[in-house]
Amino acid sequence: MSANTLLIIKPDAVERNLIGQIIERLERARLKITGLKMVRLTYDEARKFYAVHEGRPFLDELCRFMSSGPIVPMIIESDSDTVLKVRALIGATDPAKAAPGTVRHDLAISLTKNSVHASDGQETARSEIAFFFS
Ligand code: CMP
Repeated sequence: MSANTLLIIKPDAVERNLIGQIIERLERARLKITGLKMVRLTYDEARKFYAVHEGRPFLDELCRFMSSGPIVPMIIESDSDTVLKVRALIGATDPAKAAPGTVRHDLAISLTKNSVHASDGQETARSEIAFFFS
């Protein structure tokens, strides 16, 4: 059985030409990219995507950042536990706390400009994939 998740390459990583490096890390880990596009969200679309964080103090800055430039959402697939595998590969949300060798440790700039987003569970993955790939 296969399992899917959503990964987004955020504007800071697109801006610094890191799309290829991030994709290479995913493919080396034998994760399959089965959907991919480049889009630019409006501020309101970013608010919709991050609706789960409504009321959090960082939401406005996050949504301004996520709508500041192009992003690359992609569907990632593997045999099992894709959500967990991708989250392990990208590391902790805060790059300062991410383990060496993870995407965020190696490439991210700050808590907001943390280079990538990945779904945090199977249910979230389903709705986040549907958000970008209807
Ligand atoms: P992401 O995985 O995209 O999910 C929500 C984002 O909010 C997170 O990565 C961070 O970029 C951003 N963020 C900013 N401040 C915080 C915070 N204090 N706690 C959690 N996420 C934060």
